[in-house]
Amino acid sequence: MKIKKYQGFKALRTGQKKKKSIDVTRHWFKSSKKFYQAGQPFQTFVRKASFRQQEMLEKKIRKIVPELEKRAALEIGPGQEPLISKLDFKKIVFLDLSKAIADKLKASIRQSEIIVGDIRKLPPTITKTKERFGTIVINEVLTHLIPSERIKAIQNMLNLTDSILIIDRKQQSLGEIISASRKKGLKILRNFTGKNSIKTTLSRKKIHESSNINARKARQIQLMQVNFKFIKSFFERNGWEITIKDIESNKIVYTVFTAKRK
Ligand SMILES: C[S@@+](CC[C@H](N)C(=O)[O-])C[C@H]1O[C@@H](n2cnc3c(N)ncnc32)[C@H](O)[C@@H]1O
Repeated sequence: MKIKKYQGFKALRTGQKKKKSIDVTRHWFKSSKKFYQAGQPFQTFVRKASFRQQEMLEKKIRKIVPELEKRAALEIGPGQEPLISKLDFKKIVFLDLSKAIADKLKASIRQSEIIVGDIRKLPPTITKTKERFGTIVINEVLTHLIPSERIKAIQNMLNLTDSILIIDRKQQSLGEIISASRKKGLKILRNFTGKNSIKTTLSRKKIHESSNINARKARQIQLMQVNFKFIKSFFERNGWEITIKDIESNKIVYTVFTAKRK
């Protein structure tokens, strides 16, 4: 999936003399640190969530943490859209891989602890906390871990919390990914209607090639998306209570998953 002009990487490209095309699927897992080195370039569910959707998320959190003012909460990968900053938890801890994000959070949110760290190797300040967290929120972060690391990361936090809220894009079937990519390509191609210069002919060819993906490429994209069925059965095997809800926002379907210790 070569993308020549992808607005999301604007921050990343700043300072580069030559605009290079970026292979999103190849960079997705390896360079999430780079993606966020200058802030958050992606539109996420919470960033665009309607008032009702935000209310729904807050209700979900209150349901899994009944007396939240008596509990501490940890949000991993809050980016610039921390979900729990306005809730009355006794204590809020944020952990993000990006120092730039952590610095921005420090400037905007006062009464919380902000740590630079990796969900795959939680620092002792978190693992050695005496009291369990009321909840751990992981909002659009697991997508940046390679699939085999996702469950490992969750497993390492099972004893640290009484509940977990995970939000991520719903995993699509290969057919859905192929057809969505073609549809997107056609939509872009429509902008070239009537324009016939050499430049537009070349652009047309490139858009055609990049949007007409095969099953192998679709599989790579699918791996970027989180397999919630797998996560659900993991928590069920561990005897946790699960809720799972799909929500559409801006034509993207997200899964909102909660697990609570019984
Ligand atoms: C897509 S953004 C989501 C931000 C925010 N939660 C939202 O929904 O708008 C992903 C965030 O996770 C952080 N992140 C990525 N990989 C991480 C890791 N291994 N450990 C901790 N944070 C990570 C990034 O720095 C970024 O802030």
